[in-house]
Amino acid sequence: MNPLHLPGSFFFFIIITFVLIHAPKFASSVDEGYVNCNRAFACGNIENIGYPFWGSGRPDYCGFPGFELNCSDSMPEITIMSATYHVLGINNETRVLTVARTDYLDNLCPTFLINTTRNPDLFEFTSDTQVINLYYHCPPPPTPIPNEETEFFSNFTCNINTTTLSGYFLTRNLSELADLASIATEISASLRSCDDLVVLAANQSEIQSVETSQNLRWENLIEALAKGFGLQWNANNSLCGRCRSSGGQCGYNTVSNKFSCYCTDRPYDTVCPTPTDPTLESLLVFLL
Ligand SMILES: *[C@@H]1O[C@H](CO)[C@@H](O)[C@H](O)[C@H]1NC(C)=O
Ligand SMILES: *[C@@H]1O[C@H](CO)[C@@H](O)[C@H](O)[C@H]1NC(C)=O
Ligand SMILES: *[C@@H]1O[C@H](CO)[C@@H](O)[C@H](O)[C@H]1NC(C)=O
Ligand SMILES: *[C@@H]1O[C@H](CO)[C@@H](O)[C@H](O)[C@H]1NC(C)=O
Ligand SMILES: *[C@@H]1O[C@H](CO)[C@@H](O)[C@H](O)[C@H]1NC(C)=O
Ligand SMILES: *[C@@H]1O[C@H](CO)[C@@H](O)[C@H](O)[C@H]1NC(C)=O
Ligand SMILES: *[C@@H]1O[C@H](CO)[C@@H](O)[C@H](O)[C@H]1NC(C)=O
Ligand SMILES: *[C@@H]1O[C@H](CO)[C@@H](O)[C@H](O)[C@H]1NC(C)=O
Repeated sequence: MNPLHLPGSFFFFIIITFVLIHAPKFASSVDEGYVNCNRAFACGNIENIGYPFWGSGRPDYCGFPGFELNCSDSMPEITIMSATYHVLGINNETRVLTVARTDYLDNLCPTFLINTTRNPDLFEFTSDTQVINLYYHCPPPPTPIPNEETEFFSNFTCNINTTTLSGYFLTRNLSELADLASIATEISASLRSCDDLVVLAANQSEIQSVETSQNLRWENLIEALAKGFGLQWNANNSLCGRCRSSGGQCGYNTVSNKFSCYCTDRPYDTVCPTPTDPTLESLLVFLL
């Protein structure tokens, strides 16, 4: 046997072994989770939505719990703490979701009285968000309240459950109002005798224009509420950033209930491993 022949066949043997071990990774399967979560999705009239949102065919493991979208209508919907919102916008750079309560879109009289609340682990109100208080089941107003004193305050009438009821809304905190005007004590007294209070959120600049309009009317408030307000989200943002930089797709392990990073070969807890030997791999890609 020619001893000079050995190195050649040995090299050939090494290559074959390497191919047999690593071929599946290249030839057949890029991880299904990676493939699915790599695709952005469209929901209603909003396109190019990605992590942490899911729904409408995008699996739950490509998103984060609490970020499911309902895409059955042209207006995407999200449910947060049992209140339903139209999603008006999603900004994935600032991570701000703009939402408006669906049950307040054209009236102040929903069948079920629900506060706008958030899970503080997931959402923070943007700094331009203002709180609005709506009072229901109130006794009739004592005396008409002069306009110039009431730029934060007005009344409305509702028909709920076939019952007519009086309500008031206040675009400021009751405590804040107390310092504002002499009429305030009278207003506070009225409001305190209402049976129900609903706390909503609105865009501050929209509310400011309601307050400065000639009359603070309930129609103006509905218009302002429909413009929506901002919620900044946190869905393990920093973990997701690290996963993305390592070439992975952010997602969620629905078994361990933890963040998951989908890489081309399989899911990892946080980041994708750096390829062990880039030169050998590129040689292999070349050979295949
Ligand atoms: C935002 O979405 C666009 C389109 O899907 C994507 O190209 C971009 O990388 C995303 N940016 C961030 C910060 O997630
Ligand atoms: C999704 O939205 C549609 C249209 O608003 C509504 O009829 C349906 O009940 C919603 N589905 C869920 C699961 O909330
Ligand atoms: C309307 O009736 C439903 C069902 O009885 C009840 O749960 C709800 O609280 C009522 N709404 C108001 C505003 O009273
Ligand atoms: C809304 O929240 C306020 C306190 O922030 C509470 O007094 C009120 O009862 C809540 N209303 C409902 C309908 O849960
Ligand atoms: C608001 O209160 C005034 C004075 O009591 C009353 O005349 C008016 O009808 C009320 N408006 C609504 C929308 O309930
Ligand atoms: C208004 O009330 C909210 C919660 O009830 C509170 O976080 C906020 O600081 C109050 N704002 C003012 C100006 O008192
Ligand atoms: C609030 O309204 C202002 C003025 O219309 C707008 O520039 C801003 O983006 C709005 N904020 C949110 C969170 O939608
Ligand atoms: C990820 O998010 C969950 C739920 O908000 C939180 O409990 C957990 O602490 C977060 N983990 C990290 C590492 O940020």
